[in-house]
Amino acid sequence: MRVNVIGMGYIGLPTALMMASHGVNVVGTDYNKNLVDELQKNGKVFEEKGLSELFSAAVKAGIRFSTEYQKADIYIVSVPTPYLKKSRKIDPKYVVAACKSVLEICDDGAILVVESTISPGTIDHCVRPLIGGKKIRLAHAPERIIPGNMLHELVHNPRTIGADDKETAETVRSLYASFCEAEIVLTDIRTAEMSKVVENTYRDINIAFANELAKICHEAGMDVYEVIRIANRHPRVNILNPGPGVGGHCISVDPWFLVGDFPNLTPLIHSARNVNDSMPEYVYNRICEIMAEKQISSFSRVGLYGLTYKENVDDTRESPTLQLLELLEQKHLDSAPVVYDPFVNKDMVPNQVHDLHEFLSKTDLFVLMVGHSEITNRPELLSEKTVLDTRNVFSLEGIYKL
Ligand SMILES: NC(=O)c1ccc[n+]([C@@H]2O[C@H](COP(=O)([O-])OP(=O)(O)OC[C@H]3O[C@@H](n4cnc5c(N)ncnc54)[C@H](O)[C@@H]3O)[C@@H](O)[C@H]2O)c1
Repeated sequence: MRVNVIGMGYIGLPTALMMASHGVNVVGTDYNKNLVDELQKNGKVFEEKGLSELFSAAVKAGIRFSTEYQKADIYIVSVPTPYLKKSRKIDPKYVVAACKSVLEICDDGAILVVESTISPGTIDHCVRPLIGGKKIRLAHAPERIIPGNMLHELVHNPRTIGADDKETAETVRSLYASFCEAEIVLTDIRTAEMSKVVENTYRDINIAFANELAKICHEAGMDVYEVIRIANRHPRVNILNPGPGVGGHCISVDPWFLVGDFPNLTPLIHSARNVNDSMPEYVYNRICEIMAEKQISSFSRVGLYGLTYKENVDDTRESPTLQLLELLEQKHLDSAPVVYDPFVNKDMVPNQVHDLHEFLSKTDLFVLMVGHSEITNRPELLSEKTVLDTRNVFSLEGIYKL
């Protein structure tokens, strides 16, 4: 079976490597020539536990990388799916462009699997009309893996495959079963589209609840973590951790697809999004309170630790720190905070430093935005600092929390 995976990003690359290292004949295609050059040189394109080893195994098994789409029996499209800021609907342009390119080259009988997360109805409205007279079969196989533990989850997470008919679904299932050891549920395309978006929306709403509790408890002078710890003793309660906001390419994006398509039916989903989007401003307010209390007069002595959207990964998309920095820019403050992230080597924002000790030396108020283990393993480095821990990772005396 020949497989062409389109989009060699955070999802497409590990998926292609997994398949290749399990005996599937795979070509990974991306229109970004620099990325393909890097992959062909066996270069590391992003940080992920075990990725280098998997890469070597896949290369040994014969994976190839190309900017060209290939003749294949199955195409897997794993390209970005942002939302349109105004309408909140999915912006399907990357999926549509990739599917058009597949249709230009594929033979009758091929299966086109959209793996990107898409709003319910996207395949019917945006992909099916492109097929014309070709005899192509369509499927949707959304991904659930979490950056930081992707390779384990690729093997062990249950997955969903939506297709128009059982035979197509079974063929796609057998491809994913080459490496996935968990249950693979078969359904129709729209149900697969909806269930994936619903999963991330569920997470967003539950995070929003925890964040709202953090605000309430701060106002009431109470310890939200203690409240949650006790409430979670109830056998049917499982409140998540509050945090500085929600970032990444999934949880902060996918719920908008439902709000965009069903604006009158989604007050809860919409308001959860707003609560999570309000957290960087809440962190800003906490910083101002602490600065006043500790008589720190300039933002240039505030250090934001972490630029990524979660710990121990290098993905900065939609990160709460970037949201906070944008907010600070809008406030036209006299000075900007110092920023550091051990996973981000390139200069992304003003006042960014690339050395932890330099960062600490420039910082009176240390704001932990991301709990990278670099710092959570060495809390003693913060013993002399004023600390705002937005992730509740430290149990240091006298530190500030959300
Ligand atoms: N990153 C995650 O943790 C995660 C988890 C689950 C699902 N998803 C979903 O997976 C999809 C892909 O996300 P990602 O994080 O891998 O994105 P990404 O931005 O890391 O990678 C996408 C890649 O697709 C390439 N590309 C775009 N259009 C192309 C085209 N027409 N032809 C060839 N290449 C093209 C880009 O150059 C890029 O390298 C999205 O729908 C996302 O919501 C992501």
